Parts: sequence; C-alpha cells; structure tokens
Amino acid sequence: MDKNREFHTVRGYQLLDQNHRLLTPAMEDYLEMIYRNILLEGYMRVNTLADLLNVRPSSATKMVQKLTQLGLLKYEKYGIILLTEQGKNIGTFLLKRHHIIEKFLENIGISDNILVETELIEHNVSKSTLRCIDMLNEFFNVHPHLIDEFESFKLKHSSTNEL
Ligand code: CO
Repeated sequence: MDKNREFHTVRGYQLLDQNHRLLTPAMEDYLEMIYRNILLEGYMRVNTLADLLNVRPSSATKMVQKLTQLGLLKYEKYGIILLTEQGKNIGTFLLKRHHIIEKFLENIGISDNILVETELIEHNVSKSTLRCIDMLNEFFNVHPHLIDEFESFKLKHSSTNEL
C-alpha cells in the first residue's frame, strides 16, 4: 500500500510521524498557514500563501502540488486552494499544536521572539510530550498564582543560573 494513503485521521498521522515523518517541517508550515487562512476566508490563494510564508509563488505552487498529491489539498482553478477532510484534520492538529507550544512559552514568561521559538519547537515535539505540555498549560490555567510564583522564582535565581 502507498505509504501516503495510510493516514486518514490526525491520530494516524501522528503515529506515523513519530517513527518516520510523513510531512516535512516545511509541509507542516504550509498546511498550518493554509488552514489558518481557510478558517478566516474559507479558501487560500497561491499568491497570498507565498506572501504569508515569504516564498516565491513558484515555490508555493510546487509545494501545493505535493500536498495535493498527498490528498491533503484540493487545488482548483484560478489559484484557489481548499482542504480535503484529511487536510482539515491535520490542519486542525497543527494549529492546536502551535497554540499549545505558544501558550507554554507564554506561561514560562517568554516574550521575545515567541513566534520563532514556537516554530522551532513545534515540528519536533512528540505527541506524548505535547499532551503533557497541554496539561501543564491547563494546570497553570487552574492555578494562575503559580505563574507569578514562577516569575519571582526566576527573578531570584537569574543571577545564579549558569546557562
Ligand atoms: Co506554527
């Protein structure tokens, strides 16, 4: 069976991803961006996609064709991109993953380059770690004073931290 046809759900995708990555980080970035725009506008255009990701339209077209072959996108006339059910499932997961990592960084007091930091981490985190981080976010949400305590702990120890 074609390896690309093995996944139909987010769970399937993630299971496959832990051992042998099906989507490259770049593919994930494209899919996440397409998903974001489709939530806002209902569709994505190749030129908009290229602008948003700071790539040439020809590179965006190539990647869109690859993702279409994987069964994740519907690439229609006039440069209009839509998601298949599978594409939607994975897009949902990718955006959720992004928000979990971003929230975690926010919770531990990161404010500089939070977007870049999130992008660096998100592509490599395992599903079990992600689940744990999500739970930690929820823990901080239920006990917000612990965020403040951690902040003062950080201030107190910043001079002795060797890193
Ligand atoms: Co992201």
